[in-house]
Amino acid sequence: MRRKLAAGNWKMNGTADSLTEVDALIAGHPSPSVDILICPPATLISRMAGRTGRTPIALGGQDCHAAASGAHTGDISVAMLADAGATYVIVGHSERRADHGETDETVRAKAEAATGGGLTTIVCIGETLEEREAGRTLDVVGRQLAGSVPDGATGATIVVAYEPVWAIGTGKVATPEEIGEVHAFIRAELARRFGAGTADDIRILYGGSVKAANAAEIFAVGDVDGALVGGASLKAADFSPIVTALEAAIG
Ligand code: PGA
Repeated sequence: MRRKLAAGNWKMNGTADSLTEVDALIAGHPSPSVDILICPPATLISRMAGRTGRTPIALGGQDCHAAASGAHTGDISVAMLADAGATYVIVGHSERRADHGETDETVRAKAEAATGGGLTTIVCIGETLEEREAGRTLDVVGRQLAGSVPDGATGATIVVAYEPVWAIGTGKVATPEEIGEVHAFIRAELARRFGAGTADDIRILYGGSVKAANAAEIFAVGDVDGALVGGASLKAADFSPIVTALEAAIG
């Protein structure tokens, strides 16, 4: 049985002042029935780990380099993330793909490094508005999934996040029908490649303008195992009700 996951991606937001948000999240969910993950900027991981260490809240990086070490100014390795207290990492977020030219090949290399280093790896995929309007959503998502998810993926090592680019940070959410169609397609593609048992173990998150007001509707969609939340994860007052909605969705 897949354990649901509420993941927060803080992106390039947060300094020491924001640590109290994690304290509030911890206080609100002492024994959650879903997994809770915060991916703060790398500068905060270790300080946050000092607070989440004895709690059920996990921490993750927002990106990693595929290499173990070396001349890669400004980059961060899997071992560095783990050393700071991360147990997860996001790879292939559409902002990384767009701002840093990351290809499926780059993302897959990062995912291989991350899983090899023991981090549960959230691989992000999703179509642009132009691609959706051209009727190419499943083509694009299928290609990204095949290209970005490493061989040997299991439910313990890989999480897939479907994030339509046009829904990220825009307030535009995909409809339950749109989400359901893509999530079922992803599950079927995973089953074709890895077998039904493994596909059944891999969590598929939805991301893109998830907030307290739309969370329950999204979590009711088949094959949605949680959410990757950006803006609404920054404040415990916004993220906590999303966690609660996910707990309520476990039949
Ligand atoms: P958003 O971001 O919730 O602010 O739309 C989601 C994401 O990029 O993971």
